[in-house]
Amino acid sequence: MHGEIDQVRNEALAALAAAQTSSALAEWHSHYLGRRGVLTQLMRQISQIPPTERPAYGQAVNALKEELSAAFTARQQEVSAQELAQQLAAETVDVTLPGRQPTLGTLHPVTAMIREVTGIFARLGFQVVEGPEVEYSAYAFDALNIPQDHPARDVWDTIYIDSPGREIVLRPHTSPMQIRVMEQRQPPIRVVVPGRCYRYEAVDATHEWHFHQIEGLAVDEHITMADLKGTLAAFARQLFGQERRVRFRCDYFPFVEPGVDFAIDCMFCHGEGCRVCKGTGWIEILGAGMVHPQVLRNVGYDPERYTGWAFGMGVERLVMLKYGVPDIRLFYQGDLRFLAQFSRTTVW
Ligand code: PHE
Repeated sequence: MHGEIDQVRNEALAALAAAQTSSALAEWHSHYLGRRGVLTQLMRQISQIPPTERPAYGQAVNALKEELSAAFTARQQEVSAQELAQQLAAETVDVTLPGRQPTLGTLHPVTAMIREVTGIFARLGFQVVEGPEVEYSAYAFDALNIPQDHPARDVWDTIYIDSPGREIVLRPHTSPMQIRVMEQRQPPIRVVVPGRCYRYEAVDATHEWHFHQIEGLAVDEHITMADLKGTLAAFARQLFGQERRVRFRCDYFPFVEPGVDFAIDCMFCHGEGCRVCKGTGWIEILGAGMVHPQVLRNVGYDPERYTGWAFGMGVERLVMLKYGVPDIRLFYQGDLRFLAQFSRTTVW
């Protein structure tokens, strides 16, 4: 009988040493130490043993049971340590692997230019305001001294919106914001208005059917043309270089009197004459002028007391001049090879 116990012992310990996984261990445990396992059966056989040998037999089986239990616990620890080591090896994170660069977007060059220009005017004491792109023609034209049948209305190839009663347009310029601002406030007024404009244009290298303008307006007592000239010169030199010479020439817009065309000397040829300035040595930047007395009256201001000036410039054109962009259509084709080149432009 003791021979059988030894045999079970040898088998069990060999099987235990061979068990490599916790599920193999669990099987081993139920096979040998389970309720209907080998050890239980050994114990049951005690009835077939002569009574005098029973105590010794029982002790031997119990001793084996304890030995196997202890061996099982030890082996279980070994196996779970092995399994943990394997799992850690499989799930290793290589912390020395370089991270993936997130692809950061860049400001659109028109957005960057709007921020640069409005930043310059903000430092000169101007407030930045915005207004509607869908506008009453009363604001886009009439209040600006451009009556229904006035030929000046043809200057803007306006996109009209179907609207019974009050005529509505996609604003062809930011000038209607002159009226909206003056209607809502009393002088002193110093604002710049960036925004999108629309014209029914044949699209080519210098025309888009939508584009951006920045309007400027200053109204107060004693505002003169000298203020306009000084402000625009300071602006142009900050944007295009302190050495810039500036030129003011007469021009016509129905809502200013006198009206001017503002130009800087060509920064590509320094006034010699080249392709960019079309041989003239000068580059036109914007239209401006003293706010027309009738426009002041239209918003209820007394033109005897208040004077002011306004200007309006095209933003795409500024970017094209500053960075030598040859075609306005590039701004709106969404080609990242073009747009990403402006990644270092001013942000705030
Ligand atoms: N609104 C004019 C344009 O679109 C520009 C302008 C603005 C001219 C203000 C004079 C004063 O051409």
